[in-house]
Amino acid sequence: MLLKNQIALITGSGRGIGRAIAQLFAKQGAAVFLASRTEKELAAVVQEISEGGGRAEYATADLAQEAACVHVVAAARERFGRIDILVNNAGHYGPVVPIEEYALAEFDRVIAVHLRAAFLLSKLVLAEMYARGSGVILNISSLSAKAAYSWGSAYAAAKAGMLGLTRVTAAEAARKGVRVNAICPGPVRETRMSKELGADLAKRLGISAEQQLAGFLNGLLQGRAQTAEEIARAALFLCSEQSSAIVGQSINVDGGVAFY
Ligand SMILES: NC(=O)c1ccc[n+]([C@@H]2O[C@H](COP(=O)([O-])OP(=O)(O)OC[C@H]3O[C@@H](n4cnc5c(N)ncnc54)[C@H](OP(=O)(O)O)[C@@H]3O)[C@@H](O)[C@H]2O)c1
Repeated sequence: MLLKNQIALITGSGRGIGRAIAQLFAKQGAAVFLASRTEKELAAVVQEISEGGGRAEYATADLAQEAACVHVVAAARERFGRIDILVNNAGHYGPVVPIEEYALAEFDRVIAVHLRAAFLLSKLVLAEMYARGSGVILNISSLSAKAAYSWGSAYAAAKAGMLGLTRVTAAEAARKGVRVNAICPGPVRETRMSKELGADLAKRLGISAEQQLAGFLNGLLQGRAQTAEEIARAALFLCSEQSSAIVGQSINVDGGVAFY
């Protein structure tokens, strides 16, 4: 077991990639604390993990709100005593529109959920990790941070911002025993966010969802989408001692699209 006796706070873990990370981390011995807005989904994941013999708890929270970030960290500590691993995964894509049509409130909200929440949650857990001299923070960024796609300005800016945040946090934390890294997933087409994005892009391009998907996947060396499980396996590597010398990096799990 790679995460025996570890306590992991994983945001956006009611479905999709966050759920896959929570399930894999629990199988690897971690107690996992889940957070998102939808209680029904969180309760279902906790039940799945508990039935598999793992330990899981949750709190509902809109992580775009500062008070909700504070609440989640406090609830995780209250339930499990400490936080060894923080995975900043929660988020939504936002409107699929060009910049001149992008509403400022929507822009702010996308930045708040991805970048601001990752900053706030890191701020809330770092002192405790420094005091122990150990800990891991993993930021789930995106291929969108490294490529150029139309109609997702806030999302790309937030995800690129997360890479800057990853490097600065890593620089501050490395000699205090805390490792900070990021993953840039490519298209994980099984998740709600990705399906909705595919449908919106197809509509905007005036093609079918199947054509949009085929065109996009054709640009990947492997020619196929990634799975949530594949992202979770990379997350496990980066949150375990297997990656003990990897610091401040962004690892592309994209089937071969970005090469830096
Ligand atoms: N799927 C892909 O192709 C892909 C590629 C690259 C990166 N990513 C990144 O991977 C992460 C997970 O995405 P996914 O594809 O798994 O999408 P998803 O299935 O839609 O999951 C998103 C998760 O984030 C939660 N969330 C969204 N807004 C939130 C908020 N304001 N407060 C708290 N939780 C919130 C959602 O729960 P509620 O809605 O219930 O709050 C859900 O649990 C995201 O950061 C995404 O940008 C995904």
